[in-house]
This record gives sequence, C-alpha cells and structure tokens, in this order.
Amino acid sequence: MTDGEHPANGPHTRTVEAGYDRVAEAYLSTKNPEDPVTLAVLEDLASDLPSTAAVLDLGCGAGIPVTRWLAHRGYAVTGVDVSARQLELARKYVPEATFIKADMIDLAFRPETFDAVVAFHSIIHVPREEHPALLATIHRWLKPGGTFMATLTVTEFEGEDGDWEGWGAAMRWSHHDAETNRGMLRNAGFEIRYAEARTTSGTDGVETWLWVEASKPS
Ligand SMILES: C[S@@+](CC[C@H](N)C(=O)[O-])C[C@H]1O[C@@H](n2cnc3c(N)ncnc32)[C@H](O)[C@@H]1O
Repeated sequence: MTDGEHPANGPHTRTVEAGYDRVAEAYLSTKNPEDPVTLAVLEDLASDLPSTAAVLDLGCGAGIPVTRWLAHRGYAVTGVDVSARQLELARKYVPEATFIKADMIDLAFRPETFDAVVAFHSIIHVPREEHPALLATIHRWLKPGGTFMATLTVTEFEGEDGDWEGWGAAMRWSHHDAETNRGMLRNAGFEIRYAEARTTSGTDGVETWLWVEASKPS
C-alpha cells in the first residue's frame, strides 16, 4: 500500500512538514467546523457514495471538519498527511479513521481502491510541477465512477512565507490558476462536474478557492 514513514521529498516538502508540525494547533483554531460551503459539498459527495465507501483524504490535517465528517457517515476513511503533529491531532479527533504519515506524491495504492478521494486545501503545498502526475495517480486509485473532490486554486503562486501568519514557522505554497487546474483535471481523465470559485468564511477571514468535484468515467 505505502511505505508509511517515507521521509518527505526535498526541501520544499520538508518546509511544509516542519511548518505544520509547528502550527498545527494554530491552524486548527482558524477552521470553522460548521462552514456551510464545506458541509454542503460533503453532503453532495455523500449522495454519490455507497454506504460502505472507501474514502482517501489527502493532506487531512487534524481531521476537522472533513475527515471526521466522513468517518461519522460510516465510510472507511484513510487520512494521509506529511506532518506528524497534524496526524497526532487527527488520531485524537477521528479515532475511527486509519492514518498514514506520508508525502502524498509517494503513496502507492492499488488501482481502483477508493470510491472517493478528497483533498481540501492540501495540493497547494505540493510542488506544482508534480500536480499533473498526482492527479493522474488519484484517477488511477479511484474505482470507475469514483469521485475526486478538492479545493484547488483560482490564482497561480509559487513561494514561501518565512513566518506564516506570525505563527513562527515558514510555509511554502505552489499552485496554478483556475484554467490550468481545469485543464490538468481533464488531461488526467476526469469528467468535471464543477470546478468553480466559491468563497468561504472562517475565523481568520474570507477565502476563495476553486471547488472541484470530478468523476472517473465508469
Ligand atoms: C492547509 S492544511 C489542510 C488540512 C485539512 N485538509 C483541512 O482542509 O483543514 C494542509 C495539510 O496538507 C498537508 N500536506 C501538505 N503537503 C503534503 C504532502 N506533500 N503530502 C501529504 N500531506 C501534505 C499538511 O501537512 C497539512 O496538514
């Protein structure tokens, strides 16, 4: 399945890993567990899933709210994160799920393992030259008819903040604009149900993401 404890790839991901190890609690305090946009898309996802669905959550963080919501629906949820501290919190808040410490670009699941793969606010931290291969891999892991749900980005950016939010840790981001993201999804073989900008509000303010639901053709 995966080597589980593989060291993170390269300086980019080591910065992300160390950053989330340091800011895990501060980041969690910015989350709105009742965010209506997130809860609505999860309901939407659930309407397509069998009750015994296997769901992979890439970059699950502390598991609030997404991993917990999926686990409470009764799905067999596997959460993956590169940060040991994030996984420590996730295991505490979502004891029903299975967690793996890994860089998502190093994971190796069998083809057609999952009914759904979700990635909320996480692919933004993977070096963007890896995004086409990552999306193709996610497509391979999905069963025919399976669903990929993610928050991708509406603007392109590549860079690092030496003291993210004043939390005392560096962080890196690397992502594409909306049209490039839509093109990469299609090139990976997905049928896009929607890939549109939506704005959410959390305790740290208002954010706009490219909300994506895409399917692997049956
Ligand atoms: C912004 S947080 C989002 C957490 C959660 N999905 C949410 O929406 O609240 C991004 C998470 O992705 C994880 N992450 C970043 N790059 C990763 C990678 N290459 N492989 C696995 N996890 C990664 C980080 O450690 C962090 O927990």
